Amino acid sequence: MVVTKQNTGNTEFSAKLPVKVADPKWLQTIKGILRPIYYLETTRKSLGDIFIAEFASFPDQVIISDPEAIQKIFTADAKLFLSGSGNEVIQPLVGTNSLILLDGDRHIQQRKLLMPPFHGERMRAYGQLFRQITQQVMDKLTPGETFIAREKMQEISLQVILRTVFGLQEGERYQQIQTLLTEMLDSFESPISAVFLLLKSLQIDLGSLSPWGKFIRKRAILDKLLYQEIKERRQQNQSLGEDILSLLLSVQDENGQFMSDTELRDELMTMLFAGHETTATAIAWALYWLHYLPEVKEKLLNELHSVDLENIDPMELAKLPYLNAVCSETLRIYPVVFFAFPRILQAPMQLLDYQFPQGTMFSICIYLTHHRSDIYPEPEKFLPERFLEKQFSPYEFLPFGGGNRRCLGMAFASLEMKIVLATILSRYKLTLQESQPLKPVRRGLTFTPAGGVHLALQEKSSL
Ligand code: HEM
Repeated sequence: MVVTKQNTGNTEFSAKLPVKVADPKWLQTIKGILRPIYYLETTRKSLGDIFIAEFASFPDQVIISDPEAIQKIFTADAKLFLSGSGNEVIQPLVGTNSLILLDGDRHIQQRKLLMPPFHGERMRAYGQLFRQITQQVMDKLTPGETFIAREKMQEISLQVILRTVFGLQEGERYQQIQTLLTEMLDSFESPISAVFLLLKSLQIDLGSLSPWGKFIRKRAILDKLLYQEIKERRQQNQSLGEDILSLLLSVQDENGQFMSDTELRDELMTMLFAGHETTATAIAWALYWLHYLPEVKEKLLNELHSVDLENIDPMELAKLPYLNAVCSETLRIYPVVFFAFPRILQAPMQLLDYQFPQGTMFSICIYLTHHRSDIYPEPEKFLPERFLEKQFSPYEFLPFGGGNRRCLGMAFASLEMKIVLATILSRYKLTLQESQPLKPVRRGLTFTPAGGVHLALQEKSSL
């Protein structure tokens, strides 16, 4: 433990801080980008559950994987932390008005606005849609064909988000948005290209052939399409639909102001960005584990065969215990997002044995928390049964983060994951085409199975 004197305004504050990682900043940055699991695990082993890391483009970060500390942070008064300003790294994708970049009252207000379509009764209707889209996409495959699960699942989850958020169906604009968004996210496909998203200093436009130049040109075309859609929808406001864009077009703030085009564009990009690649990656991982461990697949198939899959209410399907356990274990072992959003302290705080000054950046590490052997014995093993035997607290199992920033799409993504998996497993016989166990690799801000999981369609079966 390190004790330093910090001046935090009026009072001098004695800070007792955790140990700093000894490696220089540049080395930690390289390890964090290229070998994040090795970096995190070896550091935790030598320094414990709370340590201070340094990465380029970021202030020093306190990395935390202690459930008691996580509970304190998630349950503290939301005013104690800023998160939006710590998320600047994704501003080029989602814009400055995105919920993800907001703090304080604006964050609370915008969250209230965006929450209803992701909860309650709406979910039932989405369930049918998830099933339909899965069948449409999977039916295009022919027996014997090999495919990459992450790409196929992304096709499904992008269609899902375009239908639910924009109310968009097949058509030229739909196709263009689909292609552009996929290409933009593919720009950060490899760990090397991800540095352009992670390091602000590399975000320079050096022409249409340079990595950042390519990205911003695609973003400009996508923006044009989104603004066209917003304009047309404003003009035909008499026929507002059930989708989220319709909802946002109709709301006014306390001063009677409607959302501006830029605000709408930024929230649409937020849903597109946060809402489809994450879910697709989670489903691809689940398909991997189910086909890598045939006994897990058999158990799940037995459970699915015990219900009437054609007619079951999607909300009932989501309650199936083994299906739930498989999805939870998938999100535990390799969480799609390794860190919750940063929390930047707005006043000094005592946390466990430490005293942190105002301005400290806390980074809750989902990956390390999910790999604690005191909570999850043999953490490197895929064992869905652990979720049948024990109920984990929200500070031990946190794939969607927590507190006032908890993932807005949690219920939506969990349901989508379960319906897509149940539909695929019960209707399509697949075989795994991987000879080696798969490890996670960085893709932008998410961690996906290396190579995307190669599967082959053996046969389609009717229920
Ligand atoms: C398996 C899929 C997903 C995972 C693993 C995931 C994970 C996360 C995590 C870890 C956070 C940060 C929470 C925190 O710091 O406490 C987050 C925030 C967020 N997620 Fe998700 N997410 C998923 C799907 C979705 C979907 C489907 C949507 C919307 C359509 C969505 C929208 C958001 C938004 C808007 C935020 C920011 C919330 C705020 O700032 O208040 N996510 N997500």
